[in-house]
Amino acid sequence: MEERNLISKRVRDIPPSGIRRFFDLLASMEGVISLGVGEPDFVTPWHIREAGIYSVEKGYTSYTSNYGLLELREEIARYLKTRYGLDYDPGRELLITVGVSEGLDLALRAILDPGDEVITPDPGYVSYMPCTMLAGGVFIPVPTTIENDFQVKAQDIERRITPRTKAVLLGYPNNPTGAVVARKELLKVAEVVGRHNLIVISDEVYERLVYGVEHTCFASLPGMKERTILLSGFSKAYAMTGWRIGYAAAREEIIEAMLKIHQYTMLCAPIMGQMAAIEALKEGDEQVAEMVAEYDKRRRIMVKGLNDIGLTCFEPRGAFYTFPSIKSTGLSSDEFAERLLLEDKVAVIPGSTFGQCGEGYIRCCYATSMAEIEEALNRMSRFLKRHRA
Ligand SMILES: Cc1ncc(COP(=O)(O)O)c(C=O)c1O
Repeated sequence: MEERNLISKRVRDIPPSGIRRFFDLLASMEGVISLGVGEPDFVTPWHIREAGIYSVEKGYTSYTSNYGLLELREEIARYLKTRYGLDYDPGRELLITVGVSEGLDLALRAILDPGDEVITPDPGYVSYMPCTMLAGGVFIPVPTTIENDFQVKAQDIERRITPRTKAVLLGYPNNPTGAVVARKELLKVAEVVGRHNLIVISDEVYERLVYGVEHTCFASLPGMKERTILLSGFSKAYAMTGWRIGYAAAREEIIEAMLKIHQYTMLCAPIMGQMAAIEALKEGDEQVAEMVAEYDKRRRIMVKGLNDIGLTCFEPRGAFYTFPSIKSTGLSSDEFAERLLLEDKVAVIPGSTFGQCGEGYIRCCYATSMAEIEEALNRMSRFLKRHRA
């Protein structure tokens, strides 16, 4: 009898993660400075932690509405109105998710039929391709380049539109490049999206982490609220990665479809995290500003430092990543990252992990202390002296 495959074709088709081996290696080493992980090095501000503790003490340990706590949705609606002038009905147009991660999965599964195409800038966040594939979609990368500070261009998106295109998936401020797209270009993207009747999934998890520029919320562009599934959350701005709270904002029909999946797969996001998120929105602005100011200092040091040691680095205006070119070494980004780790004990992520256009680059996260950034730069400088092509 023919042996039966235990694993579904859909999962088998997902390429293995290129960095798992790398992280295994990292875990077995001592004295490594990591510029690898993409999360804040701050702990959640105390008053937000207290709100989580308080919720447990008060006995708030139950499920919530599938949509999430109404009070949290009301706070998010208020926030989106104040910050971007957007009107979302907290009763029907907002859904609390288990991080942006769940929101992304729900959005893709809610809108895609098998074979539908999703266009997304390359390089981009590692989950975009596998989540598109798991939802039955076809992933269509759009190259972005350092010459254009890794900003996607509307004309490059339009060139990839076919009768099967269903959505454009944008992630700005960008992981891994730190790029922010200028409003002028986003208006052109909006025009293309409208003309071709597409949906935009806009992952804005880094919306609060911008430096000297304004974040443009895609849904706030003319005519785009109806077409956009806005995804955001608390992980990055409030240093709340472990609380697992995000949200989706979209028109009722789309939120209903996402809820259909969410109610059977997740039921609801954890209540303690939701209580903490309410506190974050009500009272967390000051701490966000403090963390952003600190990231900005580190960003400047790292960008200057990388350029000084000979790794060309454009100025990233968002998130907490730099994306220097390592082409001068003649090494591939995989080789560079592995050798730097083994020889000089600095962990960075190979750019190729984030798409073909990431080859020749590495991602260095500056959500780490200034002392570690400076030491990492010293070690990289030593490494480069030995490896310059
Ligand atoms: C671009 C992007 N989107 C989504 C996520 C996941 O965020 P969350 O913690 O809200 O699930 C990350 C985390 O690194 C990210 O970089």
